Amino acid sequence: MSGSVKSIVVLVSGNGSNLQAIIDYFSDKADIAKVTAVISNEPTAFGLQRAKDAGIDALCVNHREFDSRSEYDQALKAEIDKYSPDLVVLAGFMRILTEQFVSSFSGKMVNIHPSLLPKYKGLNTHQKAIDAKDAEHGASVHFVTPELDGGPVIIQSKVPVFEHDSAAELAQRVQQQERNIYPLVVDWFCKQRLMMINNKAVLDGQELPQNGYATD
Ligand code: GAR
Repeated sequence: MSGSVKSIVVLVSGNGSNLQAIIDYFSDKADIAKVTAVISNEPTAFGLQRAKDAGIDALCVNHREFDSRSEYDQALKAEIDKYSPDLVVLAGFMRILTEQFVSSFSGKMVNIHPSLLPKYKGLNTHQKAIDAKDAEHGASVHFVTPELDGGPVIIQSKVPVFEHDSAAELAQRVQQQERNIYPLVVDWFCKQRLMMINNKAVLDGQELPQNGYATD
């Protein structure tokens, strides 16, 4: 990765509000990075429309057309590789990825997860935080490693959980924060300030703590 404009491929399954935040952030930073493609496993994902509206290549690799997870991941990788991305950004991509796929993008793939990892890996994170009567909840951006939602955390953003919150209300509060932190992480990576070394997130030469670069 040199000082040239970085190529980013974003994978989505749904709405794509994180994708939109990244597109908007880099719209006046074309000298740093460019979203070169958006790929979804869901043909109707609104994220694909957002990409088209921004003049970005939008493709669907529909998982229903493949017999196995490994065949799907190989086809997905083939599409991604056409864009030679410096960074692959998972932005609400709701599929478990094979170890082979993840390893092939080691140190070059990030994910956003709607919880304060290592709490609440997997699905239904907002309801889990409510059920546990947590006072705070949030989102984490992390490097992707073969362990599901287990890679080194880069940054977290916290929100309060109010007594009568529904999962939908809490999700909305968390997603507002997601749209602030995710573009920042992509920016750090593209400026070569952020990397994964020995399974640790390193920012400006400093190993980040377990909870990443914490913000409130
Ligand atoms: C986001 O809240 C993201 O954290 C979550 O999906 C949502 C996608 O929203 N991701 C996961 O749950 C991954 N396990 P978006 O499509 O509007 O960006």
